[in-house]
Amino acid sequence: MKVPMVFVCKASKMQKLLAYTLLSVLCLPTLASENFLDVRDDLHFTLEARQANKDGSLPIYKNPKASIDARVKDLLPRMTVEEKVAQLIQGDMNGWMSLNDPLDNTKAFNETGLKEMMRLKGGSIWAGYLVPWEKFVFGVEVGQRYLMENTTLGIPALIQSEGLHGFTNNGTIFPSPIGLAASFDVDLVSQVASAISDEAEGLGINHIFAPVLDLSRELRWGRVEENFGEDPYLTGEIGHAFVTGLQSGKRRNVSSTAIARMAATCKHFAAFGSPQGGLNLAQVSGGERELRTTFLKPFDRACLESLTIMTAYSSYDGVPAIANDHILIDILRKEWGYKYWVVSDAGSVDLLITLHGTCSTRECAAKTTLEKGLSGEMGGGTYTYLTLPDQIKAGTVSKQALDQTVGYMLRTKFAMGLFENPYPYKDWNSTLRTAAAKELLHTTDRESIVLLENRNNILPLKKSIGSIAVIGPHADRVSFGDYVFFNATLNGVTPLGGFKQLLADTSVKVNYAEGSKLWSNDQSGFPDAVSAAQSSDAAIVLVGTWSLDQTLLWTPGTNATTGEHVDVADLGLVGAQLDLVKAVKAAGKPTIVVFVSGKPVAEPWIQANTDAVIQQFYPGELGGLALAEIIFGDVNPSGKLPVSFPHDVGTTPVFYNYLKGSRPLDPGAVLDNGNLKFGHQYVLSTPVPLWSFGHGLSYTTFQYSGLTLSPSTVGRNNDFTVTVTVRNTGAVSGKEVVQVYLTDILASVVTPNQELVGFQKVEIPAGGSKTVSIKVKSEQLAVWSLSNKWVVEPGQFLIKVGTSDQTFANATLTVN
Ligand SMILES: *[C@@H]1O[C@H](CO)[C@@H](O)[C@H](O)[C@H]1NC(C)=O
Ligand SMILES: *[C@@H]1O[C@H](CO)[C@@H](O)[C@H](O)[C@H]1NC(C)=O
Ligand SMILES: *[C@@H]1O[C@H](CO)[C@@H](O)[C@H](O)[C@H]1NC(C)=O
Ligand SMILES: *[C@@H]1O[C@H](CO)[C@@H](O)[C@H](O)[C@H]1NC(C)=O
Ligand SMILES: *[C@@H]1O[C@H](CO)[C@@H](O)[C@H](O)[C@H]1NC(C)=O
Ligand SMILES: *[C@@H]1O[C@H](CO)[C@@H](O)[C@H](O)[C@H]1NC(C)=O
Ligand SMILES: *[C@@H]1O[C@H](CO)[C@@H](O)[C@H](O)[C@H]1NC(C)=O
Ligand SMILES: *[C@@H]1O[C@H](CO)[C@@H](O)[C@H](O)[C@H]1NC(C)=O
Repeated sequence: MKVPMVFVCKASKMQKLLAYTLLSVLCLPTLASENFLDVRDDLHFTLEARQANKDGSLPIYKNPKASIDARVKDLLPRMTVEEKVAQLIQGDMNGWMSLNDPLDNTKAFNETGLKEMMRLKGGSIWAGYLVPWEKFVFGVEVGQRYLMENTTLGIPALIQSEGLHGFTNNGTIFPSPIGLAASFDVDLVSQVASAISDEAEGLGINHIFAPVLDLSRELRWGRVEENFGEDPYLTGEIGHAFVTGLQSGKRRNVSSTAIARMAATCKHFAAFGSPQGGLNLAQVSGGERELRTTFLKPFDRACLESLTIMTAYSSYDGVPAIANDHILIDILRKEWGYKYWVVSDAGSVDLLITLHGTCSTRECAAKTTLEKGLSGEMGGGTYTYLTLPDQIKAGTVSKQALDQTVGYMLRTKFAMGLFENPYPYKDWNSTLRTAAAKELLHTTDRESIVLLENRNNILPLKKSIGSIAVIGPHADRVSFGDYVFFNATLNGVTPLGGFKQLLADTSVKVNYAEGSKLWSNDQSGFPDAVSAAQSSDAAIVLVGTWSLDQTLLWTPGTNATTGEHVDVADLGLVGAQLDLVKAVKAAGKPTIVVFVSGKPVAEPWIQANTDAVIQQFYPGELGGLALAEIIFGDVNPSGKLPVSFPHDVGTTPVFYNYLKGSRPLDPGAVLDNGNLKFGHQYVLSTPVPLWSFGHGLSYTTFQYSGLTLSPSTVGRNNDFTVTVTVRNTGAVSGKEVVQVYLTDILASVVTPNQELVGFQKVEIPAGGSKTVSIKVKSEQLAVWSLSNKWVVEPGQFLIKVGTSDQTFANATLTVN
């Protein structure tokens, strides 16, 4: 047979080239044939049967024992342009299944729809639907079997869903990412991510869109709850734990070269979290130094092994993230050597036309994203990548970019062994919502609660107390934050439910009053709340922000104050909530305020005037119980703030690791008696946080001693170890997060006043002590120099152990 096609390179060279490069990259066809089957027929396979070799031998790409590189190289030239483009466009399981009714369990599929979907968009399949698990498994099985058995090449699909803090199709919901970060426990986060994989993997999902590594440095932005806080180092460490846990292990019955059972998705690449004005999708300002030292650090740490990365919607310094070849090609591909799949976020290719104004046609949007991003196209837009086959044929789009991008996609699939077994497991039910996952959830919910204030050790309450009032719009509500599916909250325990469960066998009376709605100024519930407080021995008031599940959050006419596309102009409590707290406090009983929220709540009155303050970032399913356990001392709080709390939105940004010189201080205040105290930074407020990054109290006390650096003098390429002894000097066992901060005393560029460089969570029994050693790598000392390179500069570095606003011990490191 004959394909009318002319290659620009010599056929005699082909064999040699094939040995070390993607041949089609170098041998561009100069002419398009009518149906443009861009397939080489001069080697070891025929056009009609591209999945087989002429000599009957097993194609390399089908050989589980062959290296991933060799398999990619073998498969790519067998593919048509249409097949390649289909790998790049996200399809949708709704093409062959009816998935709109969460309760419908009909196991049937649309054959025409299936074939059409797989022909055009068969590389990756969005499957984030709330449907009965049996029906879901059926749909995945049908899709993968069709691809494997009924298409020429048999390329399995990525099957994709959400899992920022729990597998969304009715899986176990863990605390929101900001809550996971508050645990400061990398092992725990890794286990959580692994549990998310356990639930999704059996159902045939192999790609989860998590974790988010954006930084919470612009607190007005709605998605703060999806991040791991404000700090690049903490975000990188927690993110790395998440990626490692999610990808841990191998799928069953796959090749020995497979390295992961699930593809994680580091997102949103890059610099997405600080939109101008806190407005979702708005541009981000910054230069190369801020990019390197702040925004890219967590990705560099956590994502090189992640099998996928998702790009950001925003622009950075005037360049749309999806078309930023400096970040996506120069840095990610060339500098970091990243070799897996990168995909744009939903609908974002069209944004080059409708938002950024850098393209006027869909052809331009597709070409720009492919060539400058080497990335695929997620759904949610107009599928501009469908223009690619014609553009490739017309020679206006680089075939090399197409091949490279498809190569990354195939590598991701081979890395999971999907060509050997892309199917759901028969025993999928045995890994969903298990007792072990529930136990892990319970631990995580406990570890992510942060005790902010505890005047006169009012907490923990004793179970000998006569009665408590549980008050507030968050008292009898389950708040998971965004990225959970419809009705997920039905699986959760409310705080009121948690108190009742914990106190069931005691004589403590629980008096509940809602007091007010989250979203209303109506104070008609105040009298009931005040009388509940008056008739109790202590009052617990639960207030905060709120979000909704992925269905309701995007339904017009609903309301929320946090979550994706929900940005605020004020960080104070909404509606009657602050007045409710004041009214309850005025009842004269010990008043404990619990913020249930997805971001810092800025209410200085509450910090100054209540007896205790607890922060519960949107929890997981057992959050209500864990909160009760903390308040009654069954569990000693051990969470720390991954984000600083400002006095007021006008005092932001408030992150602790500001560059030197960025926090002049001459505070003013509006005093409680109404008097005005005038200052300059700020006139009637202060840039110092209410509670700063790393803060979190315990029911015990810890004393630090014996800080040593080994060695204390290092060369520019040497790591060093920080060792310190921590003694539990209180009466109960507790967990402490040992935090190490570094200050570069003199540098060629402006550096942070301090930055976290290490931490470790340890449990220490009452009266006991532990010696903790934390390794710091030499590259953590590096600055992004004036000549645009990472350089460790000789000089002195202050090392402190403490929190961002406390020093328990310090020492000096010398680099020469
Ligand atoms: C959602 O929950 C409500 C009860 O709160 C129930 O009536 C409804 O059937 C549930 N819907 C689904 C899809 O689970
Ligand atoms: C099946 O899919 C095809 C192609 O998308 C569509 O035209 C047709 O309406 C679908 N049939 C049903 C019964 O949904
Ligand atoms: C796949 O091929 C098998 C065997 O030829 C056939 O029975 C089946 O109907 C095909 N499935 C689809 C969805 O085309
Ligand atoms: C979700 O899981 C819970 C707990 O197993 C179950 O009671 C509920 O029926 C499930 N909901 C759906 C919509 O499948
Ligand atoms: C598939 O893997 C499972 C567990 O990993 C193993 O028990 C089973 O024997 C394997 N099946 C085949 C056909 O290799
Ligand atoms: C899954 O397992 C649980 C517990 O063993 C059982 O109650 C449930 O009916 C099973 N669900 C399905 C769909 O098999
Ligand atoms: C906010 O949403 C709730 C339902 O979640 C609704 O009852 C309430 O009326 C809404 N409030 C406003 C002000 O829209
Ligand atoms: C370092 O610790 C010493 C006490 O050992 C203290 O006097 C000094 O103020 C500390 N320095 C800093 C910068 O915290």
